[in-house]
Amino acid sequence: MTSILRSPQALQLTLALIKPDAVAHPLILEAVHQQILSNKFLIVRMRELLWRKEDCQKFYQEHEGRFFYQRLVEFMASGPIRAYILARKDAIQLWRTLMGPTRVFQARHVAPDSIRGSFGLTDTRNTTHGSDSVVSASREIAAFFPDFSEQRWYEEEEPQLRCGPVRYSPEGGIHCAAGAGDPGPACRRPVGL
Ligand code: RTP
Ligand code: MG
Repeated sequence: MTSILRSPQALQLTLALIKPDAVAHPLILEAVHQQILSNKFLIVRMRELLWRKEDCQKFYQEHEGRFFYQRLVEFMASGPIRAYILARKDAIQLWRTLMGPTRVFQARHVAPDSIRGSFGLTDTRNTTHGSDSVVSASREIAAFFPDFSEQRWYEEEEPQLRCGPVRYSPEGGIHCAAGAGDPGPACRRPVGL
């Protein structure tokens, strides 16, 4: 596995989703995007999409049979979502900390400034998702970005992004290495529904 050979300094990847409750509100969507930027995550890829119910069911397979599973799947397929590949040192844990606890009531009490504490509506409509491990992140990134090769990214883009300089493109909403003349595949990729 390539991860075994990775430098301890390497950027870590995670999958972040903005759920339909937040995508439906442009100001909340923008506020979450700004939280990503202000917490020094690099946005490697971003896309918006409507999720098919079958894909939601597959994605949340680990929760099948739990009391909230059906409502979660229905909700996640109910409107557009935004998916990000984020990179940062300790991205997985940091994004989960930034999101706050799963349950909104708890989030409002113990982490009122977290994303869920600030914007979450209910335990289902809780604004965002974040991968919970390196293995989940790889699986979830592949589910949303089938053309993205993690191995190639670590070989070609990660060293440039880690060592800088890095440019943020507000139009595309993603970061790219700013050194070379060619902006790299992330900058060339169109973003949209
Ligand atoms: P996520 O997967 O969304 O990042 O959140 P998580 O790890 O904190 O929570 P997880 O246990 O993986 O649950 C996935 C999503 O299911 C919904 N859920 N509702 N008690 C409930 O009603 C309940 N528990 C979980 C949430 O939308 C949660 O984000
Ligand atoms: Mg989870």
